[in-house]
Amino acid sequence: MKTLAGKTALVTGASRGIGRAAALALAQAGAQVIVHYGHRGHDAEVVVAQITAAGSRARAIQADLAESDAPHRLARQVRRIVGERLDILVANAGIAKAATLEETGVEDFDELFAINVRAPYFLIQQLLPIMCRGSNVALLSSLAARAAVGELSAYAATKGAIDILVRHFAADLGPRGIRVNAVAPGVVQTDMSTFTRSEKGRDMTLSLQAFKQLAEPEDIAAAITFLASDQARWTTGTTIRVDGGSKL
Ligand SMILES: NC(=O)c1ccc[n+]([C@@H]2O[C@H](COP(=O)([O-])OP(=O)(O)OC[C@H]3O[C@@H](n4cnc5c(N)ncnc54)[C@H](OP(=O)(O)O)[C@@H]3O)[C@@H](O)[C@H]2O)c1
Repeated sequence: MKTLAGKTALVTGASRGIGRAAALALAQAGAQVIVHYGHRGHDAEVVVAQITAAGSRARAIQADLAESDAPHRLARQVRRIVGERLDILVANAGIAKAATLEETGVEDFDELFAINVRAPYFLIQQLLPIMCRGSNVALLSSLAARAAVGELSAYAATKGAIDILVRHFAADLGPRGIRVNAVAPGVVQTDMSTFTRSEKGRDMTLSLQAFKQLAEPEDIAAAITFLASDQARWTTGTTIRVDGGSKL
């Protein structure tokens, strides 16, 4: 059923991984999707081609979210495409860097916060003028914000910040009828989690989870599509764990 027919959506970091799966799922539900990418234009065009081949509308747009004015430029491009109404924003683009406290450098720390926190913050700010009653935002948190897994303290801090922003933005925007939530995956098989491709990494991941299989990007996209839909109309200000029962 085309539950998102007539809706417009922007998915950041939709060239691969969870963002790609979310863009395809939203399009399958009927939304027109803007496929944002950072560096992999070809991959983004493949996603656009898949969506258009399936009968929905899509466009790819580029912005390097490490740059401080990128959210502002991205928002202007989005407005040129969708006009005065954006229904769904999935602020998914992100990076991870595994490092101990001793190994973490200032540049890496700043880059993590620039892409994972500053970019979604200002993207939401810049897109607010075209978000209306019924519009909604989904951000990407992580299991790492709730539990000490891996050597990920700086990355985890960016995701903790996302959990905080969800509550504040939901409170601020609720009176305008705009919902704001996050999903918190555990380990998902993407380029960000290449360690799952080794036997040791796979075993370690499965030891964290109640479900003894690895998560696919589509498992997370299903929750994102739910949050984007009217089925989630009474859900705001929360981070939903979508982690196969990790670290229970
Ligand atoms: N995979 C996991 O296990 C996991 C677990 C918990 C949370 N998450 C979160 O889920 C989100 C997606 O992760 P993923 O696993 O799908 O990652 P991924 O496969 O590495 O893909 C990352 C996406 O973000 C984009 N991106 C990265 N740096 C960018 C930049 N500087 N400017 C613009 N775009 C940029 C990439 O675009 P280009 O390729 O075009 O540069 C790509 O589309 C992230 O926020 C991540 O923290 C992932």
